[in-house]
Amino acid sequence: MNKREAEERVAELRGLLDKANQAYYQEAQPFMSDKEFDEKLKELEKLEEEFDLHDPESPTKRVGGEVSSVFETVQHPVPLLSLDNTYNEEELNDFDGRVKKILEHENYDYMVELKFDGAAIRLRYENGALVLGATRGDGEKGDDITTNVKTIRDIPLQLKGESPAVVEVRGEAYMEREAFARMNERREEEGLNVFANPRNSTAGSLKMQDPKAVAQRPIRFFAFDLLLDDEENALTQFEKAEKLQELGLPVSEYHKVCSNINEVHTVINEWGELRHELPYETDGVVIKVNQSDLREQLGTTSKFPRWAIAFKFEAEQATTTINDITLQVGRLGTITPVAELEAVELAGTTVKRASLHNEDEIQRKDIRIGDTVVVEKAGEIIPQVISVVNPDRADRNEPYKFPENCPACNSELIKYDDEVAWRCVNPTCPPQVRIRIEHFASRDAMDIEGLGESVVDQLVSAELISTYADLYDLKKEQIIELERMADKSAQNLIDAIEKSKAQPFERVIYALGIRFVGKTVAKDLAKAFKTMDTLQSVSEEELEAVDSIGPRIAESVVKFFKNEKNQAIVKRLGEHGLQFEKEEEEQASNIFNGKKFVLTGSLPTYTRKEATDLIEKHGGKTASSVSSNTDYVLAGESAGSKLDKAKELGVEILDEATFREMIGE
Ligand code: IVH
Repeated sequence: MNKREAEERVAELRGLLDKANQAYYQEAQPFMSDKEFDEKLKELEKLEEEFDLHDPESPTKRVGGEVSSVFETVQHPVPLLSLDNTYNEEELNDFDGRVKKILEHENYDYMVELKFDGAAIRLRYENGALVLGATRGDGEKGDDITTNVKTIRDIPLQLKGESPAVVEVRGEAYMEREAFARMNERREEEGLNVFANPRNSTAGSLKMQDPKAVAQRPIRFFAFDLLLDDEENALTQFEKAEKLQELGLPVSEYHKVCSNINEVHTVINEWGELRHELPYETDGVVIKVNQSDLREQLGTTSKFPRWAIAFKFEAEQATTTINDITLQVGRLGTITPVAELEAVELAGTTVKRASLHNEDEIQRKDIRIGDTVVVEKAGEIIPQVISVVNPDRADRNEPYKFPENCPACNSELIKYDDEVAWRCVNPTCPPQVRIRIEHFASRDAMDIEGLGESVVDQLVSAELISTYADLYDLKKEQIIELERMADKSAQNLIDAIEKSKAQPFERVIYALGIRFVGKTVAKDLAKAFKTMDTLQSVSEEELEAVDSIGPRIAESVVKFFKNEKNQAIVKRLGEHGLQFEKEEEEQASNIFNGKKFVLTGSLPTYTRKEATDLIEKHGGKTASSVSSNTDYVLAGESAGSKLDKAKELGVEILDEATFREMIGE
């Protein structure tokens, strides 16, 4: 390569990496894998060095993130550095070689930790109280996201025990895979943009303007560093982990001291296997010199500490071709495009299909039928199409054009203003009818055993049913006619349908399949409105007065019951004797009769909802603020001002253990 060629390649790489940084940090929608980013960055570094093409604005000179303008900017007293990283064992040995050389004859060991794949945050506690939460930003300055951070339940608002005057904590906010997948499913169904992976979703969530919305996101936290004032700072990395735990901060159980680099390799191999079983994602292992004086001696470069390195696990990716793009119709009419792939092995399973989520996603990645693409398992659950290989190829197909009509019933698709998904709104669209009936019969709804996909399919195709209300008119003779049905199985199904009539009111509400009404909301609706008659006639305002119900759900409920077809179906369900009234809550005791409780902090085992239910079951009531009328304050960890107020007013304070004893659990 000559100098001119090098200049061209450097310019190209800088442009690409800047774009990748922008997509990763600002838009939380990456288009490049970490590995590819690291490789390109290394290539750029090498060229800049070799051809002396330095530029202070180059991506090789910056940490990556930039500070966004909507939050207050905070200067970090000690910068949040990034980590140098490697994907192979020799490079790790080279790192150990460099450490050994600088430390000469000193004895050192390593602390090995998991590398959590989320977003770094910095916390500051003064006299035990959380006073600041900030993003890493560009490493020097970050965003003040204190109000958002305060919604993360893993992060204590108050430190435990005797805490030093100033405590600085660094750690990683992340999401568990399951919670992430559930959130994405919900978003897809609701027609919203889905997140590419838990890491992006965490970074995006932390920067939302509305803390209430942040609180709805399943963000978790692990602490991995502690900064105290000078003299106490001499802790080893291992001691820091212990101290963090003492202070009440969550530390991952996966941290281990290794006395040499061979032991480190062993741990890496072990954890490389184990990571698939963890509920959250890790993209590698961080290796840190354990002793603080030696860390100081090693010092840092402008970007990385010399005393630590990240060993990255390979992301499980594969390359394959897209044979076709098909459309799937969801229960609520959402149209999801799916890539039909040439079968490929990925992380131990054969992958044939990958969700393309929505039209925007296809356009952004410019995915076309016939393309060779990179697929990756996001959170090792759902395969995703990451990028197109060689998008400049001349013989590609035309850009994919999203159909204008429903693939199942041919009615015109529509898109609501604030959504990315196309929808089919024809209520008699066959796959939607089938899915609605399947939902109605599903385990968490009416729990009708034997009414699975294939039976529903046959019943609908034979035109024996077209709504779930028709199920209750079915006769045994009609069912016997279906494939693989005999006298006994037909009778069993009739019995199961009959039995479902006893399912409680909240399940009936859930089974109706109202948009945005999941199990929890259904329960809250049953509790608040008691009968189907009332529920059918409530206004949006009355609905919004219920704690868990916002304007979107309220609008959806009212719209459902306003629809005449739905009214007719609900009426028939009532005539068939389904439960249209909430059963009186079984009273466990009346020990708390007339007593008012206030809950504060997080309890060790009960969620707020569980504790509230228990209080009510035993005759008590809950309120949101402490006053002289309050009888008890049930306080958990990181209880804040409510606890102070209770002490001030002399209100009796209970911890979970005492509360459990009182209710005899
Ligand atoms: S130590 C100077 N430990 O990885 C030390 N970082 O690439 C830097 N990360 O910004 C941080 N798990 O967000 C450290 N156990 C761990 C980590 C960890 C995840 C992230 C962190 C950091 C990035 C560096």
